[in-house]
Amino acid sequence: MSHPSDPPSAPRALVAAAAGDVPDDATAELQRLRAILATMSCRGRPRAPCPPPRLPFDALPPIPTETRRALEIAVLESNDRYLDTFLEPHSFCPFSRGGRQRAQTLRLVHYADTADFAPFLARIHEAARDPSKLVIQVIVPMIEVSAEAWIRFCHEATAAGNEVLRAGVGGGHDVFAVAPLHPALRYTTTNPFALIPLFRRTPDPTIQWVRLDAIERLYAGRTGDTEYVDPDHVAAFLARPRRNPLFERIAQTNMKMAQRLGIPEVERTLRELARTAQERYARVLLDDAVRVVASPGRCPHRPAPASDTSPPQPALFERDGRWALARVSELEPRVPRRFVAAEVEVVAVRIGDTIHVLHGRCPHRNAPLTDAVVEEDRLVCPHHGWDFQLASGRSEGVPGASVARFREWTDDGLLWVDDAELRAWRTTQVPVFQPGDDVL
Ligand code: FES
Repeated sequence: MSHPSDPPSAPRALVAAAAGDVPDDATAELQRLRAILATMSCRGRPRAPCPPPRLPFDALPPIPTETRRALEIAVLESNDRYLDTFLEPHSFCPFSRGGRQRAQTLRLVHYADTADFAPFLARIHEAARDPSKLVIQVIVPMIEVSAEAWIRFCHEATAAGNEVLRAGVGGGHDVFAVAPLHPALRYTTTNPFALIPLFRRTPDPTIQWVRLDAIERLYAGRTGDTEYVDPDHVAAFLARPRRNPLFERIAQTNMKMAQRLGIPEVERTLRELARTAQERYARVLLDDAVRVVASPGRCPHRPAPASDTSPPQPALFERDGRWALARVSELEPRVPRRFVAAEVEVVAVRIGDTIHVLHGRCPHRNAPLTDAVVEEDRLVCPHHGWDFQLASGRSEGVPGASVARFREWTDDGLLWVDDAELRAWRTTQVPVFQPGDDVL
């Protein structure tokens, strides 16, 4: 993670070039450096106006205000987990905890339901107005964007924001430096700087702006190995004694800490934080869908699917502790059918020569699983999207959720289930839903 540990960046190679063999023809070389510097984003230097950046992701669907608030809380809590369990305990960013305690860090959650850049511009304006906020993070959850596209966008957005700010609160200067944060930033272990992106793997894509004047205060009196150097002062720069710069020490310490923890383990921890965050957001949206379906007409973005109101078909007969549910030939492939045997409602699904028998009601809101769609090897309830593996009854999309899966046989052209198993299962169930409950 960058934070104020990042100095204002200028290509190291540029200074390295100056630090290397200064050619005999020093004037020509200095002219070359001047030409390069003229194209760089230095404070106070006039530049061509930046075009407004294009968003590198699709806009998210609209959601109700209360869902947006619930999502915002979930996003901030996920970010807290990243800070509390990873970044701060290992001091990967030595400025993070103090910045939070002194209220110098501002975190904003942006639900990107528009493909418009204007909200980002509004955020950077809002941030610039309060000089007590030194670090501003705009967290953009649930968008699909590659790390590379996100990095590009963060730089373009910051350039566009600084351009406007220069004319106002910046008084002719850029106000912010940027550090893009993203759960899939690429890193290598070749040196401490190449490892930095690993620590910036936040659960959600995030733009982190750091006030340049804060960075300058932090680095006042300290030297770094990357600095803005006027070509006229290159000789003096080269003559200055080198000290070990702060950000270099931080990068080295972080690398040692990551090696001690095990870099694969650090990566696994961060991946897990991102995964649990996404699961949490899915639940927030799922709860919203439940509210919407339970209150028809409240929100137009999700119409309630129709539900099967017919009663389950009684089993054909019982013999030797087994129930014959149906003739196999009457089971249409991939079409769920409900039956009742030993007072248990079950759903049967035939796929090729295999028939699966599961409990007939969705554990989420008791929808009959004849409403469900067979997708590959699972049943998907259309009401709020819970899915169940036909072979096990377990859900992959909703961890911990499942429906009971019962044994079955086919012989004499009939589908059979075990009476004792159904009865035993029934006695262990605490009924959550009553017949006639309007739960959808
Ligand atoms: S009733 Fe909600 S997912 Fe099935």
